[in-house]
Amino acid sequence: MAAKDTDTAEGLHVAIIMDGNGRWASQRGWPRLFGHRRGAERAKQIVEACPDLGVSHVTLYAFSTENWKRSTEEVIGLMSLMGRVIRREAVTLQAEGVRMRFIGDRAPLDARMRNLMKWIERTSQENTRLNLTVALNYGGRDEILRAARALAQDVAAGTLAPEAIDEAQLAARLDTAGLPDPDLVIRTSGETRVSNFLLWQSAYTEYEFTPTLWPDFTPEEFSGILDRFRSRERRFGKAST
Ligand code: IPE
Ligand code: IPE
Ligand code: MG
Repeated sequence: MAAKDTDTAEGLHVAIIMDGNGRWASQRGWPRLFGHRRGAERAKQIVEACPDLGVSHVTLYAFSTENWKRSTEEVIGLMSLMGRVIRREAVTLQAEGVRMRFIGDRAPLDARMRNLMKWIERTSQENTRLNLTVALNYGGRDEILRAARALAQDVAAGTLAPEAIDEAQLAARLDTAGLPDPDLVIRTSGETRVSNFLLWQSAYTEYEFTPTLWPDFTPEEFSGILDRFRSRERRFGKAST
């Protein structure tokens, strides 16, 4: 398969593992949810910085399929924070030309949340200045599993031949269907792991890890990371030049 051009006129796709909210709050003796609230404000600021930094797609990891292991208080707090942010930012998203989408399994989310997600996706679908994708109840393995199930259903229904299954057929059944693969994944908080984020899509993605906790991650640091990224040579398996 031909490698995708990275620096197209369309701009970069940057995906971010926004980690470190809990530690940021704990360091101040505050409840973890305070960190999440600051993290949400930071996310808004980083998203707003994207168009001027040449980023056309930004994907934010907000809640993983493993994050249900946290306390009920934290899970409920995170979900209601997400709902509040969507409602509060809807007008700004329109004004700034941001198209918002979600990836992840929506089935376990409550109906109000699912409706809110559907509503903001629909009302922002004509916006083209920035593509914002929020990963909510998202896990890379879970996403691939659901895509595999969808392929199996099509084969069982007789609408897809097993020999016709290729990368494009699988990718078309992922939550990210239609979105470009990320050029760069950034993880804050000093952890150097992927934590089940965009496993299929990041086959040739570059990674940047920073010790900065997410609530402290500034647009200036973001801009510096993008400059460094642009100087990297991406080979997609080709010989070095
Ligand atoms: C990231 O911050 C946000 C979510 C996972 C929802 P954490 O809550 O993981 O913060 P730390 O890693 O405990 O500091
Ligand atoms: C990854 O962070 C998920 C999000 C940022 C939403 P975690 O804090 O959940 O990851 P681990 O548990 O440290 O790997
Ligand atoms: Mg964490």
